[in-house]
Amino acid sequence: MEKLKNDLFIRACKKEKTERTPVWIMRQAGRYLPEYRKVREKADFKTMVKTPELATEVTIQPVDIIGVDAAIIFSDILVIPEALGMNYEMVETKGPRFDWTITDENDFARLSKTDLSDKLSYVFEALRLTKKELNGRVPLIGFSGSPWTLLTYMVEGGGSKNFAKIKSLVYNNPQLAHKLLSLIAAAVAEYLSLKIANGVDAVQIFDTWGGLLSPELYREFSMKYISDVVKNIKRTEQPVIAYAKGNHHSLDKLANSGVDVISIDWTHDIGSVRKQIGNTVALQGNMDPTVLYANTDVIKQETIKILNSYGKGNGHIFNLGHGIMPDISPYNTRVFVDTVKTESEKFH
Ligand code: CP3
Repeated sequence: MEKLKNDLFIRACKKEKTERTPVWIMRQAGRYLPEYRKVREKADFKTMVKTPELATEVTIQPVDIIGVDAAIIFSDILVIPEALGMNYEMVETKGPRFDWTITDENDFARLSKTDLSDKLSYVFEALRLTKKELNGRVPLIGFSGSPWTLLTYMVEGGGSKNFAKIKSLVYNNPQLAHKLLSLIAAAVAEYLSLKIANGVDAVQIFDTWGGLLSPELYREFSMKYISDVVKNIKRTEQPVIAYAKGNHHSLDKLANSGVDVISIDWTHDIGSVRKQIGNTVALQGNMDPTVLYANTDVIKQETIKILNSYGKGNGHIFNLGHGIMPDISPYNTRVFVDTVKTESEKFH
């Protein structure tokens, strides 16, 4: 790893000593920034994802404009299903729509066991360009969806109200679900290994939909495959973060799955979670994203509450409990980031 000028994020992931708490924001490269919308006027979402110069430009925007301590490559979790042969469109204001969905064994055969380094070369090129442009200012994070979260999109075909299709698959044909999850997990491990080979300093696995499952099914269909991915990533010292939503019941088990950091949603008290699993993993999170709609006094208070709850010491990366919303003001976002930076010093 080349020498980073600001390595607070990496040190916090490893629970090493830092002078203050590092902060970054999920979905920090996005529509809440006028500078992002300006680029987006010239190109649709998928063109941006597939054009390394544009992906690099918007990846670096929040580092310059908001002052975050890490960059996350602008891309999407859906590039993996696409590389496996499922084309999708990003429908304006509606979200992703796949051309076809997985329903039975025949659809398993339609997935291509493809060469990811070739199919996703645009991602790796964007990573190399971003590393060059960042010039060591902050670390670069690479990411993937978890096998379960990717399978959810591949079966539902997009967003969903009650997730009837994916849950029917789990109850009616668990063998097929496992076959698909094994295939996706192998692709995710290869993908994250290639991201590391192309320069990322850490990787995050987004398990956005793990919380749909009962505790027992969560462990069988979601956590098991996160753990398989972590075992198979080729890495030297790059930390692995798991973003977990709605998995109160299994935090202790996820902490022992091989991940270095667990990113928690806002429904947890971070101090209690630290007592429970803070000896095993670092914690990332966990302010409610909607706090950023409030006035700046409330934003400051809520930020300080979380610093107090985590308490003194290392192993905390400040973030929101989920992605930032597109209609948040950049000013409020900066107030939040500045508050973490100034108020966290006394906890270190
Ligand atoms: O964090 C970052 O700044 C890096 C970029 C990033 C995007 N998507 C860009 C994006 C990351 C890490 C993701 C991950 C992602 N994508 C997840 C997991 C995290 C989570 O939020 O739960 C999921 C579930 C997706 C799938 C996805 N992509 C959906 C459901 C949507 C539509 C919703 C929306 O906000 O419009 C997207 C589109 C998307 N991905 C946008 C961005 C900036 C908005 C596209 C636009 O400019 O119109």
